[in-house]
Amino acid sequence: DDAAALKSRAPVVTIMGHVDHGKTSLLDALRGANVQAGEAGGITQHIGAYQVKAKDGSAITFLDTPGHEAFTEMRARGANVTDIVILVVAADDGLKPQSIEAINHAKAAGVPIIVAINKIDKDGANPQRVRERLLEHEVIVEEMGGDVQNVEVSALKKQNLDKLLDAIAVQAEIMELKANPDRNAEGTVVEAKLDKGRGPVATILVRRGTLKVGDIFVCGAESGRVRALVNDKGQQIKEAGPSMPVEVLGLGGVPMAGDTLTVVENEARAREVAAYRQSE
Ligand code: GTP
Ligand code: NA
Ligand code: MG
Repeated sequence: DDAAALKSRAPVVTIMGHVDHGKTSLLDALRGANVQAGEAGGITQHIGAYQVKAKDGSAITFLDTPGHEAFTEMRARGANVTDIVILVVAADDGLKPQSIEAINHAKAAGVPIIVAINKIDKDGANPQRVRERLLEHEVIVEEMGGDVQNVEVSALKKQNLDKLLDAIAVQAEIMELKANPDRNAEGTVVEAKLDKGRGPVATILVRRGTLKVGDIFVCGAESGRVRALVNDKGQQIKEAGPSMPVEVLGLGGVPMAGDTLTVVENEARAREVAAYRQSE
């Protein structure tokens, strides 16, 4: 894209960390919702994608991963959608195998980390111990002379959530994230399913351009036409720009996480590209 056409876009943030360290609770607290309580056994079954507005009105897109497979899988398929990783570490439990795995994934992907030291409301919370253990894994927080931001939070008591949003804003500003909203959309599937009533539904993270109702597209090996767009609040919208997560209805079949959605000029072109991809 022409540099002049680029406009700043919201950062895409993936929340990672050891099981039960509070990833979903933190995301719920940030967006003022309660997904965690509605989950079967409190275990995240799928990736949720949501946009949160900071005080200054700027947006942040969050992805909640069920484990690290989704992140690795998407990356393996060339769908590196994450700009920033939030590593959630429970202050009472400390660094655990999946925390270290998350650090390694972020490093391998070249994605900067912000550490959210969660559950600071608990007896036995030891955030200093967490910072020391991070050092052993070459995640050097600012207090220790490094450049990794860390924020002590409580998802439960909703403490320091603004500080975490500020830390994300600071990191995003350094990265100068941009995309051209004025072109045919391109996006990545973050989750997809066959819905009983609505047919195939995919949650798409728009990467560039603006996706509109009526657009003809290819998505993985499927083609279709956007019948409806639904935002993270369940509202029908007419269009979705860069960094927006949106549910897309009107797919011919169910695509896979990590697939690319590309808007094309006409149906003939869509069928041609889909047929080619199916033959691959
Ligand atoms: P998985 O998706 O299953 O890996 O878990 P998760 O990391 O999403 O953790 P989840 O949000 O499900 O929280 C796990 C448990 O920790 C729940 O019982 C939460 O209520 C509790 N919890 C989360 N954040 C806090 C916190 O800040 N303080 C306290 N005391 N408990 C918390
Ligand atoms: Na959990
Ligand atoms: Mg969870």
